[in-house]
This record gives sequence, C-alpha cells and structure tokens, in this order.
Amino acid sequence: GEAELGPYRHFMQKEIFEQPRAVGDTLQDIDAIMPELFGDGAHAAFQAIDRVLILACGTSYYAGLTARYWIESVAGIPVNVEIASEYRYRTSVPDPRTLVVTISQSGETADTLAALKHARSLGMDQTLTICNVATSAMVRECKLAFITRAGVEIGVASTKAFTTQLTALYLLTLALAQTRGRLDAAAEEQAIKSLRHLPAAVSAVLALEPQIIAWAERFASKENALFLGRGMHYPIALEGALKLKEISYIHAEAYPAGELKHGPLALVTDAMPVITIAPHDELLEKLKSNMQEVRARGGELYVFADADSQIASAEGMHVIRMPEHYGKLSPILHTVPLQLLAYHTACARGTDVDKPRNLAKSVTVE
Ligand code: G6P
Repeated sequence: GEAELGPYRHFMQKEIFEQPRAVGDTLQDIDAIMPELFGDGAHAAFQAIDRVLILACGTSYYAGLTARYWIESVAGIPVNVEIASEYRYRTSVPDPRTLVVTISQSGETADTLAALKHARSLGMDQTLTICNVATSAMVRECKLAFITRAGVEIGVASTKAFTTQLTALYLLTLALAQTRGRLDAAAEEQAIKSLRHLPAAVSAVLALEPQIIAWAERFASKENALFLGRGMHYPIALEGALKLKEISYIHAEAYPAGELKHGPLALVTDAMPVITIAPHDELLEKLKSNMQEVRARGGELYVFADADSQIASAEGMHVIRMPEHYGKLSPILHTVPLQLLAYHTACARGTDVDKPRNLAKSVTVE
C-alpha cells in the first residue's frame, strides 16, 4: 500500500534508496574477516578447494561475473561463472576440489537449484550459497550459506539484492584470500575500513539522482542504448543494460569496451546513447580511446567518471562525476547510478516499473 512506499513512487525506487541500509545490514558491524562468516565448517571447506564455480541466473549471474575479477585478483583462485540453465545441460569436466557457489535473491530459482544438484551429482559437494531468503530451498540444499540482509525485495527488477550480493561476494573474496595466506592484518584492516565506509559511499552516489533524471529525460525517446565497461566494471555494464531493458523496454546491450571495434561500432549513430563506466583505474587510458572511437562516429557519450578521471563534458560528451574513487568496491558504487537511470527512464516512458510485462520476480519453473 501507499504507506509502505513512503515518499517513493515505486518499490524499485524505494529499494534503490534502501541500499545504504541493506549493505550496512549485510555487513553487520563486521570487525574481522573469517571463513566462519559463511557458516560452520567453512574454513575446512575453503582449504579443500582449488577452484570456484559460480552458478546463477539473471542479475545474480552478473554478481557472479563481478566476483570472478575479485576472487582471481585478490585470492588467486581460478573461478568459472556459469548461467545455471546452461550449466545444468552441458557436458562439463568436474573437479571434486571445487567450491560451488550459487547466488540467488529468492533461493527458489528452478534453474539454479537444478544446476546445484547437477554439480553435486558430478561429485562436487563443497557448496555455498549467497542468498537473500534464509528459509529458501537454496539455503537448505547448500552446506554453507551467507544470508544477505537486503530485506524483502518487491520490484521485479533486482536492485538492493544485487548490491548486497556483491557485498557478500567481496567478503567471500577476502575470506578465501585469508585462507590462502593472501590477506595480512594490515590488508584486512584496510578492507574492513573501506567496507564500513560503503553505506555512506552509496548514499553519496544516491545524491546524484537529479543529474541522472536529466539524462533519463533524454533517454526516454531512444530505442537503443549501448553500455560500455572494462574489467570488473564490464559486468556492471551488463547489469545496467539489463535494468534498462527490463523496465523501460529500450533495447540495450553491454560490451567490454575493447570489443567495440569487433561489431557494435557499426551500430553507433547519434540516435544511440553510449553509457560508459569510466573509473580511474589501469584501463582508463584505453577506455578513453574507445570513447574517441564512438565520438568520431557521431555517437553521444554519457560517462560516469571519477572525481579525478579528467574527462570533461563537451559536445556529444555528457559527464556525471562520481563522488569518490572506490578501488575494488567501485563496481558496487557504479551500479547505483545505472539503476537510477533505468528507473527514471522507465518513469518517463510510463511503464509499469515494479511489474514489467512478461517478467516474474522469481522463476520457480523451468
Ligand atoms: C528473475 C528476476 C531477476 C533475478 C533472476 C534470478 O529473472 O526477475 O531479478 O535476477 O530471476 O533470481 P534469483 O532469485 O535466483 O536471484
């Protein structure tokens, strides 16, 4: 009812603005990194594995793709991420020394549950879930679990569930790194410090809403959009494109920016906005030359840049500056403006934001 919505127009908007609280609750005043955050026996399980296999669908799959960058670079463990509905039906080569990680908001997605059973039938019985519903089938079926504290998510398009999944996956990365001797006390302290700052950092990004509304008004008349990111922000570009298509019905695609020249550049005209995630990282210079390729073809760039990215607004180049540089947690922060962009674009087009056509909140049948 109206009361539950408070000052918000839709549950999706309310849930986007709830993220500082949701991320904070998921962190639960954490003061140390330890495997036991993931349940009893996690330490032994983490020592008994040589690789990680992540299984999920939809937005949860993009959380898994992001986690691959973290786990491989911080913990040094090879990671495979698979779409549950594909994995369950393909012939793959199992390694019993695998930590199988399912990611699911609902814990009831039929394909993810079936993929988990499939992995187990192949002899992989170290299982862990990152899940938002403690009483779900997924939590019952997995040996280890981390419950995200997003709270009930009503909007069909997942928002706070995704950022809390990422928060949990970053904790998992740190715990795995620790069991590998790759997280010393100083690094642990630094990581906890930046995690504690995360809710405030998310709030600062939410304050960009008025600037994003201005962009959304321009997007409302478009029929296509391209999202670009590189490295750990490529999955965030995928998530931004998914949000936009789900609720505004604008066709959107995401590409790792280095792939532009292998196809999508052919689509670039002034009719297609190109949304670019441009944090100040080791790939920024390469990304800037990708952006020039778009500009040279008359493409309109909409760029999320760091305070210190040195990318300025110009003709055909619109820039929103992110409040801070967030290092490894940057994907979580860059998710938020893309959610707001999809949300306000959908509002401007007058779609049914909380219940987009043809989609279900939880897909419990195949
Ligand atoms: C549906 C929802 C998505 C969600 C996906 C996976 O498609 O609309 O928002 O990401 O299912 O759901 P899960 O509950 O397993 O995360």
